[in-house]
Amino acid sequence: MVRVFTIASGKGGTGKTTVTVNLGTSLAQFGKNTIIMDADIGMANMGLALGLEDVPVTLHEVLAGKANVHDAIYDGPGDMKVVPSGISLQGFQQANPERLKDVMKELVEVCDFLLIDAPAGISRDGVIPLAIADDVILVVNPELSSIVDALKTKILTEVVGGHVLGVIINRAGIEKTEVVKQKMEKVLGVKVIGTIPEDPNVRKAASFKTPVVIKYPLSPSSVAIKNMAAELAGIPIEHRGVESKDRFIERFAKVLFRGRK
Ligand SMILES: Nc1ncnc2c1ncn2[C@@H]1O[C@H](COP(=O)(O)OP(=O)(O)O)[C@@H](O)[C@H]1O
Ligand SMILES: [Mg+2]
Repeated sequence: MVRVFTIASGKGGTGKTTVTVNLGTSLAQFGKNTIIMDADIGMANMGLALGLEDVPVTLHEVLAGKANVHDAIYDGPGDMKVVPSGISLQGFQQANPERLKDVMKELVEVCDFLLIDAPAGISRDGVIPLAIADDVILVVNPELSSIVDALKTKILTEVVGGHVLGVIINRAGIEKTEVVKQKMEKVLGVKVIGTIPEDPNVRKAASFKTPVVIKYPLSPSSVAIKNMAAELAGIPIEHRGVESKDRFIERFAKVLFRGRK
């Protein structure tokens, strides 16, 4: 069964693009045909994040009726496919977001998972991705303003007939994760799918235009994201091959000191 997820938030900068790119890469690494699409057509940055900023055909041209979506699909990391959006203002003005649903219908013919990176806020362009996905995943930072904005987005999603699957807490600090999780579930009324810690390697990897799950696979953020991807893809724990640095060191130490008292 093909699954279409829209990755949304209320506020900008919570980590939607980071989550879309890394969750998509991880799903592809688990052998799932995965396409990620940048529906943030006004402030597109998925192309920039992956070094695809100079491609000839983007979602802009497709939404303007000038190109076929199959010509806007590019190879991304880990066998993932990417439909970037253009960065020109003119391209944005000519793009008609009403066409997104038709684009989605064409893409689901050729993939197992489609992840749509949604714009922040509650603009007209932002509402369409919330309505057309099977499920919406909200990316929320552990701050009150981010939670309040996510709640607005959740309500908006339901108003337009969409469905919120749950929340990803991103940039979690050292505060008690379980307490934050419970608060978030209570306020938003949906489950927490996973928690991604604040991790300097996310930015470091971005400077190489590479997803953190590829550049730093043992980093805490990578381990968290890969576990979420495995959960979404229904991969059993023994086949995930996801291991934290601590667990790796523990195993390594065991081998090293085997037989010693
Ligand atoms: N878990 C994280 N740890 C550290 N930095 C992060 C994390 N997630 C995202 N960031 C950084 O936060 C910034 C905003 O992330 P981005 O994914 O572009 O947000 P959005 O798409 O929601 O606007 C980027 O500079 C990104 O590298
Ligand atoms: Mg973004």
